[in-house]
Amino acid sequence: MRKDNENMSRRGFLKTAAGIGAALAVEPVLGKVQAATEAMKRDPYKVPTRHEGMRYRTLGSGNSRMTVSALGFGCMGMTYNRSEHPDKAQMTRLLHQAVDRGVTLFDTAIIYGPLHNEEFVGEALAPYKNKVYITTKFGHEVIDGKATGRQTSRPDVVRRYCEDSLRRLRIDSIPMFYQHRFDRDTPIEDVAGCIADLIREGKVQRWGLCEVSADIIRRAHAVCPLTAIQSELHLMHRLVEQNGVLDVCRELGIGFVPYSPINRGFLGGCINEFTQFDTSNDNRHTLPRFQPEALRQNTRIVNALQHFGRTRGMTSAQVALAWLLHKAPFIVPIPGTTKVAHFEENLHTLDFTLSDTEWAELESVLSAIPVIGDRYGADQQKQVM
Ligand SMILES: NC(=O)c1ccc[n+]([C@@H]2O[C@H](COP(=O)([O-])OP(=O)(O)OC[C@H]3O[C@@H](n4cnc5c(N)ncnc54)[C@H](OP(=O)(O)O)[C@@H]3O)[C@@H](O)[C@H]2O)c1
Repeated sequence: MRKDNENMSRRGFLKTAAGIGAALAVEPVLGKVQAATEAMKRDPYKVPTRHEGMRYRTLGSGNSRMTVSALGFGCMGMTYNRSEHPDKAQMTRLLHQAVDRGVTLFDTAIIYGPLHNEEFVGEALAPYKNKVYITTKFGHEVIDGKATGRQTSRPDVVRRYCEDSLRRLRIDSIPMFYQHRFDRDTPIEDVAGCIADLIREGKVQRWGLCEVSADIIRRAHAVCPLTAIQSELHLMHRLVEQNGVLDVCRELGIGFVPYSPINRGFLGGCINEFTQFDTSNDNRHTLPRFQPEALRQNTRIVNALQHFGRTRGMTSAQVALAWLLHKAPFIVPIPGTTKVAHFEENLHTLDFTLSDTEWAELESVLSAIPVIGDRYGADQQKQVM
């Protein structure tokens, strides 16, 4: 399928080049077309788009599109920020099981660890090089393996981080490189220009943005077409439905990858006011929504999902994921887990299709339950738009 797209794209480029050449005879334009065509030829990825029991979705459009499993796998919590986790061998087995079940989209970031999540994912998925997509993210500054708390998307830094991620991930080209958080000191056009250069050089295939406004998305997309926006969206945080981000994705043909789709585990029903987080490796104890009183009150939301799922044979996690999948065909959630049982449960969400009337019923129940507590504390809130 990608091959057809590539061939069509090359034909498109050649046609464009011929047209422009004849009309204007502008050498630099032809040079750029040639460079982009050459970059496409170097796309090393041959990722399957068929697997029994798996469904596929397309993120992005035109030359920047990418067909992936309808559910991806968020790898962060396998080493970072989700408390204790099983050892590397067991996590590696789980990732291999995910590949065997047809998952083709795996998500990590430089800041997860920092660095060690990329190293783990790169090593674990090395046997599947070019057969699965590992997406990663730049933007948080990391010096000598430590996060500084600052944002930097200066082109020279992005370029350096790209080289380092390629090495840690053991791949030759990053299938999608997201800006993790907006850098107020670097115009988005400069970031987009840098990514366009990395794409021309074959070091990056596509790009995306996280937690930005609709206006930034438009400006970035005008310079270098975006494949996906990765921002928080789930039944307890629906900002992108209201601030125009989902609308602009729909309008411009950009995919949407909701992160923390089970609200960091809460919608799965295994977390309550008595849950102890490992404070040395979990950010949830810092989040207002994960304080004991907020957890206690928000349990009404989980109860509503469990009640809704009961007559349909679905768990609350499956209801949360199915709600996202139903919202739009360009949405690909990336739930994370350290357990094969939860992985299978999440994957089986794909077996359920509910009607608009059923979803309206759930919306009506949920609209009567307030969400208690902000999603982020003040410091993290400053980093999102
Ligand atoms: N772009 C960004 O700024 C950003 C921010 C945060 C996260 N992310 C990405 O999004 C991915 C997922 O986010 P996340 O880990 O924050 O949240 P999540 O996927 O909503 O939740 C993960 C948590 O839910 C639990 N869980 C998973 N399936 C479950 C089920 N069926 N029943 C009950 N509990 C279940 C997991 O615990 P078990 O291990 O016990 O299953 C894990 O602790 C990350 O890995 C990362 O790639 C991106």
